[in-house]
Amino acid sequence: MDQNCDADKIILRQPDDWHVHFRDGAVLRAVVKNTASIFNRAIVMPNLQPPITSVEAAFSYRRRIMEAIPDGVIFTPLMTVYLTDDLPIDVIERGFQAGLFTAAKLYPANSTTNSSEGVSDLKEIDSILETMQKIGLPLLVHGEVVDQEVDIFDREAVFIERHLIHLLERYPALRVVMEHITTEQAVQFVEANSSRLAATITPHHLHINRNAMFAGGLRSDYFCLPVVKREHHRRALRKAATSGNSCFFLGTDSAPHLRSFKESSCGCAGIFNAPNALESYAQVFEEEGKLHKLQGFASEFGPAFYGLPLNTGSVTLVRREQVIPEFFEVNNGLGSKEKIVPFHAGETLNWSVLGLKEALE
Ligand code: DOR
Ligand code: ZN
Repeated sequence: MDQNCDADKIILRQPDDWHVHFRDGAVLRAVVKNTASIFNRAIVMPNLQPPITSVEAAFSYRRRIMEAIPDGVIFTPLMTVYLTDDLPIDVIERGFQAGLFTAAKLYPANSTTNSSEGVSDLKEIDSILETMQKIGLPLLVHGEVVDQEVDIFDREAVFIERHLIHLLERYPALRVVMEHITTEQAVQFVEANSSRLAATITPHHLHINRNAMFAGGLRSDYFCLPVVKREHHRRALRKAATSGNSCFFLGTDSAPHLRSFKESSCGCAGIFNAPNALESYAQVFEEEGKLHKLQGFASEFGPAFYGLPLNTGSVTLVRREQVIPEFFEVNNGLGSKEKIVPFHAGETLNWSVLGLKEALE
């Protein structure tokens, strides 16, 4: 299927989201529809509290996600397992054999939201990585060092130097995704190792640089991890995403947090972009004069990396301005409602996704 693209309408092969956070409970029930109504599949992150570290927990989480999908919507959550220092190898093997795990996620311990049970030292998971390499289960990496001596804006680049280079050398057949890359160094490193290393790129890292976090005051809505970087890094990411190079593909890292957790003296990292992620990417591709490269990034390079079939359906984007809501309301589980602020809140985006009915008219 070729992308069908004119000045006012884009028909794309249906995309997938290769990195998303759904959470659990009331938030899960509120946010799944945003992803499920646009994307056919999504790689679901396992950093719940407690994290997904067993086959049973992953099956049960998948069931809760399925229950939250609106009637009539077809959507497949692709599950991941959360690596810990002492995760039994048979969890990896059984989850893989059951067709449940699409990948395993490496969070360096204390690198980001709900990562305290993550991996303290790569040596601890040597036999897990050997097994993953053998069975062909991809490793998804949160690529930041946790060393407090390293400046927070350098933690991704230092992770590549200190860990990723060695990891690729030690496990030459392991397939790896560097998730949500944020730097020029990551772009170059992924390009140089693209035979078995890929990267997801989020909408927010394509739209904002670190100034956004401090524009007129401290703006927690723009705080995510890895933290947004300098402008030249954003430019490198835009070039990579729109390049048509298949080692870069769509992963929103949509990460909803209730307003009260974002706006606190120790606010959570994460940007909720699921309601308008595809339009947000389309805007970037248009600004770069690369709309014709959107389908590869959004719908083709991810399945190719994971060895999964291409989607056969399509989505239609039309040039129609939409103002993004200031907030969404969700039940906080305590009997009252709380806000979640989406990315682009109050801004106008140029493209809109047509509902299925409208698309057929
Ligand atoms: O900004 C982020 N939010 N980065 C992550 O790595 C985790 C995520 C979350 O779970 O909120
Ligand atoms: Zn994430």
